[in-house]
Amino acid sequence: MTIDYGEREKSYELYRKGKREGTWDPDEYDLEGDRDDWKRFSEAERQRFLATCSGFYDGEEDVTRTLAPYMMALDALPSDEMPFDPVQEEMYLAQQVYEEAKHTDFFSRYFEEVFGTQETTSYREDGYQEQGYSTDDLYDTADDLMAAIDGGDRTELVYALGEAYLNYMGIVEAQLARGGYLSFDQMIELKAAEMGREAVLESFQAAIGKVRQDETRHIENGRWILQQLAVAEPDIVADVYEPRIEQYVENRLLADPIYDENPFDGYDQEKIGKQLIQYLQDTVDYIGTDRFERYDDVQAALQERHAAD
Ligand SMILES: [Fe+2]
Ligand SMILES: [Fe+2]
Repeated sequence: MTIDYGEREKSYELYRKGKREGTWDPDEYDLEGDRDDWKRFSEAERQRFLATCSGFYDGEEDVTRTLAPYMMALDALPSDEMPFDPVQEEMYLAQQVYEEAKHTDFFSRYFEEVFGTQETTSYREDGYQEQGYSTDDLYDTADDLMAAIDGGDRTELVYALGEAYLNYMGIVEAQLARGGYLSFDQMIELKAAEMGREAVLESFQAAIGKVRQDETRHIENGRWILQQLAVAEPDIVADVYEPRIEQYVENRLLADPIYDENPFDGYDQEKIGKQLIQYLQDTVDYIGTDRFERYDDVQAALQERHAAD
């Protein structure tokens, strides 16, 4: 037996939490009411809502298909030289991949039964231009991990894992997906207000609430591993984390919004932008601000960049 199951680390505790909170079934939601609500959306509203849902549907499939190499890479680490137990993290990821499959399952059912299509490409090409990093890029990240496993160099492997966790948990889950939830919240709230109702797409909201709860654990685990890898290889922050964050800031936070106009009256993109900056700050704080040269204070770094432009 490789691990002492009495000594439970963060990842193991999150795995236990997932057993209690992550047990839900996408098939249990009655979608009848959502189908009726969807008929009340205008064509422009549908296009916009479907664009975000398509990003999620594709994205959930992408994260499901690209997580396995993370487990293999953890297993290739010399565990006695690591500040954390890779096997406990492998157990955590075994749970995560099941949860990601379930998220894909939910969107698959929702597209079929409410939207009446399995088509996502046209919505994504039609405006959902991912700037900088997209879940499609997770396949390259997974390939890089496999190459680092084959390479057999400890530092290379830790660096590849750091890059992979930052891409997957630090950017895709903590930034892109959470930006999407905030967008859903606003669109649904504004539509309900317009219809003089308390809520619309209630089953969607309920299921997405479960997805978000799962994702909160994924993000927390990801941050913890990023922090642990920085203990193992302190230079990883300057060599991998900061350049990767820089890229995200450049392509997302400083870039023009993807959509010029939103058909949902009163939609506030700026509010979402501010929240995304806070999310990034939370990640940096968790890993350890003192380890960061430029992004210890994200807001200040952004202001500096704005002033320079
Ligand atoms: Fe997910
Ligand atoms: Fe996730």
